[in-house]
Amino acid sequence: MEKEATASRYTVRLRQIRLSRDIHKMLEWYNNKKVLYYSEGHTRPYDEPVIKRMHKYLTSDGKMYIIEIKKGRNWIPVGDASMTKTSTPITIGLPRYWGKGIGLDALKILIKKAKRSGWKEMKVSGISDYNKRSIRMYKSAGFKPVSKDKNRGKEIRMILKL
Ligand SMILES: CC(C)(COP(=O)(O)OP(=O)(O)OC[C@H]1O[C@@H](n2cnc3c(N)ncnc32)[C@H](O)[C@@H]1OP(=O)(O)O)[C@@H](O)C(=O)NCCC(=O)NCCS
Repeated sequence: MEKEATASRYTVRLRQIRLSRDIHKMLEWYNNKKVLYYSEGHTRPYDEPVIKRMHKYLTSDGKMYIIEIKKGRNWIPVGDASMTKTSTPITIGLPRYWGKGIGLDALKILIKKAKRSGWKEMKVSGISDYNKRSIRMYKSAGFKPVSKDKNRGKEIRMILKL
């Protein structure tokens, strides 16, 4: 578990996911059409089998964490953040917490973990071109867009050299 005091008005940490405990929260997040529209590029709700597949894919190829913020004495789960060799997806599943620096804090924690693990680069893919907040978050953390001709359709990909 890792904390970081930063510019966000919340204290943010990432903890290892435990699917049996976290799936109910994830079902709530991935049934919210606003969240799906930005995170997945469509608004079709995810059911349990889809979440389990997503978890299997992300944990077989990398690490998946739950983003938590501190409220009083409690840690509140607000989203998930993962790092694989091909992508670094982050989803805050409760829109009321968007735009408060939590995503950027979570991303900075992932970058520290990747550096500590000796990774030479991090990538992110599948960002919709209308997802300006996400693009700004990755740019703020130092990610650079992959040249346009290498991008497929409207999906934006970025890379960070560590
Ligand atoms: C994308 C997401 C993870 C970003 O996390 P966040 O906590 O909301 O973002 P932050 O508050 O850390 O802000 C990141 C940047 O976006 C900017 N931003 C905030 N609200 C914005 C808005 N409505 N439009 C454009 N930029 C915005 C911030 O100013 C900041 O940029 P800066 O560093 O240049 O000032 C989060 O909004 C989210 O989960 N959205 C839904 C799912 C999603 O889109 N996931 C990413 C899929 S690739």
